[in-house]
Amino acid sequence: MTIQTTTDLQEVVEAVVREHRDERGPLLVVLQDIQRRMGHLDPDVVPLVASALNLSRADVHGVVTFYHDFHEAPRGAVTIKLCRAEACQSMGAEAVVAEVKDLLGIGIAETAADGSVSLDQVFCLGNCALGPAAQINGRLYGRVDRDTILDVLRSDLQGETLSEAP
Ligand code: FES
Repeated sequence: MTIQTTTDLQEVVEAVVREHRDERGPLLVVLQDIQRRMGHLDPDVVPLVASALNLSRADVHGVVTFYHDFHEAPRGAVTIKLCRAEACQSMGAEAVVAEVKDLLGIGIAETAADGSVSLDQVFCLGNCALGPAAQINGRLYGRVDRDTILDVLRSDLQGETLSEAP
């Protein structure tokens, strides 16, 4: 959903809060649901959610910034999560991270300027026996390298031009 105005945003927040208000400790699920609907958590969401749930802005902001799966800016069409935990590190994960950063021209926790891809790090995907592991748009991959990532990206971005960093 594309949010155009503050009124749109307020309507989304009110609808989500209405849906989850009676749940126990609804803040997390409210934020997850808003992000699912909007694609990210616009900073204006914080005061709206705080007001709707009778919490302080600091409480809501603290949760948004604590969890790495919440994003305050729009994400790329493809999200790549590279595992950097110990088992994957022992299989060359750091070299893959460096290659993929170089390939995309972005760093960890960044999104390409053209909105094609976001790059994140994670610490264990439960795929340790097949490290280095990655998750791309929710799908799990093992024994990844630069070429694996490039192939999946080309497939996921079908038709869109993937511009490799110079
Ligand atoms: S350490 Fe990478 S998947 Fe477990």
